[in-house]
Amino acid sequence: MSQTINPVIPQMEPSFGAEEAELVNQYMANPGFITEYKRTAEFEQKLCEFTGARHCIVVNNGTVSLMAIGMALGIGDGDEVIVPNYTMIASANAFAVLGARIVFADVEPQTLCLDVRQAEACLTPRTKAIVLVNANGRSPQAGIDAFISLAARAGVALVEDAAQALGSYYPCGTHMGLRGLVGSLSFSAPKIISTGQGGALLTNDDAMAEKLRYIKDFGRSSGGQDYHPRFGLNFKFTELQACVGLAQMGKLRDRMVRKKQIQQRFEAGLANVPQVRLFPHDLGRITPWFVDAVVEERDALMAHLKTAGVNTRKMYPPLSQQPIYQQDGSFPVAEEIGSKGLWLPSHSHLIDTQIDYVCAAIAEFYKRG
Ligand SMILES: Cc1ncc(COP(=O)(O)O)c(C=O)c1O
Repeated sequence: MSQTINPVIPQMEPSFGAEEAELVNQYMANPGFITEYKRTAEFEQKLCEFTGARHCIVVNNGTVSLMAIGMALGIGDGDEVIVPNYTMIASANAFAVLGARIVFADVEPQTLCLDVRQAEACLTPRTKAIVLVNANGRSPQAGIDAFISLAARAGVALVEDAAQALGSYYPCGTHMGLRGLVGSLSFSAPKIISTGQGGALLTNDDAMAEKLRYIKDFGRSSGGQDYHPRFGLNFKFTELQACVGLAQMGKLRDRMVRKKQIQQRFEAGLANVPQVRLFPHDLGRITPWFVDAVVEERDALMAHLKTAGVNTRKMYPPLSQQPIYQQDGSFPVAEEIGSKGLWLPSHSHLIDTQIDYVCAAIAEFYKRG
């Protein structure tokens, strides 16, 4: 166990193969303009079919998708947006760039999703939106309905940042991203499917979809003309990304199965290691994106695993402690994750012997006296 395995087990890695190459090559044999067109519409249609969304609008990435939502909501200077203190920084920056003040609320200890009571305590007359992040494909224990009614009572928009949640469903059976006004997905390299960079907006609201389509295309109602009835930027996709995305969609269901098996194998392999706590998942409806854990002696464990050829990654530190935000407040859950949260190797082509090796290396670390 003590010698390093070769090759190193990465914490995350996208998985592309012959299917992606074939679709890209087919397109490039007769390439067109490469910018978004028929393949992109097909990819959006596949995402609608998979998630049950009435509208899917793909964009450059899962950060500008959130920014487009903020623009569609008219968020600007002086407005406040409530964001969980445990999330990827894009969940906050996408609204901060529009001039919003970001107000952080702590997360639930079991799910790391926004705590509904903490979110409620942050509401002010200036609040414009609540951003619910489906952390690692999980949904809040308090229930999504608690957020829907909170947002309705407060007269604010409920935005779902479902970047980590493709393939995960609420207990009611609805795909994540589709219970609030609008949801956002990401197809960046570590996600369950990737187009290198990429994002998507999901909504069942016709008016929101229309606003988002204008925003992503310079505020015009169609390409090839220069009349701009609204304000917009350029958040368009490309046909090459769509070809990759279409091939990836063909693999999504198998990946969901594999991600759940990976989670279960880590749970079994670490069951007798009390220094490592994994989060509970209802795998009937949740596809964990990464294997996330709360661990003792995090830095020393990471160093031990690195020597054993295993890469891990620290989970997000509280956004309130990032130099660009620096907000006071009590955030015990986000703070615990900031000091003890660790992502174990989690990519979908991880094989069982690698998982067993990682579990054994972790057990060995805590056994050393
Ligand atoms: C919760 C969350 N929101 C937003 C993003 C940003 O997505 P992208 O990297 O596609 O811009 C990510 C990316 O990891 C994320 O995890």
